[in-house]
Amino acid sequence: MPEALLELKDVHVRYGVIEAVRGINLTVGESEVVTLIGGNGAGKTTTLRAISMVHGPSRGEILFRGEDITSLRSDEVVSRGIIHVPEGRHIFPSMSVAENIEMGAFQRKKTSRKELNEDVDRVFMLFPRMKERRKQAGGTLSGGEQQMLAIGRALMAKPKLLMLDEPSMGLAPQVVETVFGVVETINSEGIPVLLIEQNAQMALQAASRGYVIETGEIVLEDKAQSLLGNDRVRKAYLGEE
Ligand SMILES: Nc1ncnc2c1ncn2[C@@H]1O[C@H](COP(=O)(O)OP(=O)(O)OP(=O)(O)O)[C@@H](O)[C@H]1O
Ligand SMILES: [Mg+2]
Repeated sequence: MPEALLELKDVHVRYGVIEAVRGINLTVGESEVVTLIGGNGAGKTTTLRAISMVHGPSRGEILFRGEDITSLRSDEVVSRGIIHVPEGRHIFPSMSVAENIEMGAFQRKKTSRKELNEDVDRVFMLFPRMKERRKQAGGTLSGGEQQMLAIGRALMAKPKLLMLDEPSMGLAPQVVETVFGVVETINSEGIPVLLIEQNAQMALQAASRGYVIETGEIVLEDKAQSLLGNDRVRKAYLGEE
């Protein structure tokens, strides 16, 4: 396994008296795609929100590049380059596609107009459809297009680690292919990705390693290829008998 960029050590997360994440250990190495799969309510989103410090852990440690980030605020985590694309996209509906994309660069310091334009062009290259629709209001895009926009915007932050929460949710198979294709491209440029999915098949094909979470605990972890062949995974997450 490559050296850990992100490391969760015995992380617990509570909502009041309920412990939604119960002592998970997880790592993402430099330039890896790692997936966390699990059913509804398993604790996937909670785990990402803990890493982003939107709702931090109640116990345990989260290390990024060997540094403990559990005492940081969520904006400080973003400044370190941990960029989270949440479930449900959250684009700015009345802003144009191009404006939405540019907003992704908001916390970058001293970025020249030229550099910004080059980065926007790169997003347009990944998602040609966003270029065609650059003047259209974000809120009028289809669900799949909004997902592309959300990922494109996240890339403008120059992520050191990109975290995607169910990017394939609600998308037609063809659009799912596009989105996963982009995950591959992003990763081939050296950006590590932590991918959360219920679409276990696609996620395990895109990832090099995977974790399976059930009721707040990691029940399996292995190379993605091995998980694809694992009986328990096949029955519970790949819909096989
Ligand atoms: N703000 C909250 N307050 C109380 N309980 C919460 C809160 N957010 C999540 N939970 C609970 O924590 C558990 C884990 O939720 P989480 O959103 O992490 O699941 P998930 O794995 O992302 O599921 P899904 O695939 O349905 O998105 C669930 O039982 C959920 O009801
Ligand atoms: Mg979720």
